[in-house]
Amino acid sequence: MAEIICRNIRKTYGAIEVVPDFNLHVRDHEFVVFLGPSGCGKSTMLRMMAGLENITSGELMIGDKVVNDLEPRDRGIAMVFQNYALYPHMTIRDNIAFGLRRLKVSEAEITARTAEVTSVLGLEPYLDRKPTELSGGQQQRVAIARAMIKTPDVFLFDEPLSNLDAKLRATMREEIARLHKKLKTTTVYVTHDQMEAMTLADRIVLMKAGRIEQIGSPEEIYERPVSRFVAGFIGTPAMNFIDATVMSEHGQCCVVNNEIMLALDGTSFNVEPGQQVVLGVRPSDLVQDATVTPPLSGQCDLIEYHGDHALVSFKVGTSSLHALVAARKRPFEGEQVNFAIREGAAHLFDQKTGKSLLRESQSVAAA
Ligand SMILES: Nc1ncnc2c1ncn2[C@@H]1O[C@H](COP(=O)(O)OP(=O)(O)OP(=O)(O)O)[C@@H](O)[C@H]1O
Ligand SMILES: [Mg+2]
Repeated sequence: MAEIICRNIRKTYGAIEVVPDFNLHVRDHEFVVFLGPSGCGKSTMLRMMAGLENITSGELMIGDKVVNDLEPRDRGIAMVFQNYALYPHMTIRDNIAFGLRRLKVSEAEITARTAEVTSVLGLEPYLDRKPTELSGGQQQRVAIARAMIKTPDVFLFDEPLSNLDAKLRATMREEIARLHKKLKTTTVYVTHDQMEAMTLADRIVLMKAGRIEQIGSPEEIYERPVSRFVAGFIGTPAMNFIDATVMSEHGQCCVVNNEIMLALDGTSFNVEPGQQVVLGVRPSDLVQDATVTPPLSGQCDLIEYHGDHALVSFKVGTSSLHALVAARKRPFEGEQVNFAIREGAAHLFDQKTGKSLLRESQSVAAA
């Protein structure tokens, strides 16, 4: 087992700087997920950890060793990729054992370790089959077994589930979570699927253009996004954003635009009258019985029926907003709808910097 420390890691390809200055401490046994949009540098960081990419400058430690100049095989890591090509002519048993045979591990030990990993992953019935005789999910489990059998200090996963269909992805996600509970191997897992990140991570590292935008538990990232970027990236359906200006009315802090005037608890936010802000509200934090606070009103122009819930689209001025309501309480298309923001659930961001204006000591009410 091992911790991973990234100190001032920089990566350039010629004149292109992909990662400017990356600092992170992955604790022993921790499951850290790198999350972010396509091209933000997730795979590049992971590949530098694995030793498949040179580190331009900075220091990378795995366990108590600086590994910058170590070969991948000397780093104590095992990696599972999106394209987990198994050897098609070999049986599953031989695919799993291949890495150990190359390391000249004794056959007796290979047999024992194969038995152990195949039992953990439920692969015993398939050992004598060829890869084409397995489903996608089973093949993916073989790829994980092949990595696990090396008993690494660190697991590195790069979008291991993205080739699977949605249902299988959910099943495999659960298996990976169970596996981690059992083995507790330090893990770095790359994905752009926020559901995978939310369900698997001890901590999420949310990246944007090679930089860390926020590090935190899934709950911290969801409830206290540090920026509009994070708030918009996490949460499905996505957070609503409304441009507005801060005003003070008889000592009461409000955010105002042509269509709305919402009173806010001024002690929760670092704002000044006149400040241009973006009000952020999750669709699940809009409630239909708008009797107390001035409501967000508009005409419902589309309903998406989800079974248990329905997503209501409505327009307030120029803003197109979404609210998630219980399906049995959904309005009709064309109906006038009134929504209030659940108390304590509003987010405010600075329009220019995108930074959250929530005061440090405040926390947004749990969804
Ligand atoms: N060999 C290379 N030469 C030049 N630029 C590269 C090279 N490899 C990657 N890049 C650039 O580095 C940036 C980060 O790429 P990376 O593969 O790490 O992104 P990612 O976050 O894993 O994205 P995705 O979610 O699409 O896999 C991208 O802008 C990419 O174009
Ligand atoms: Mg990638």
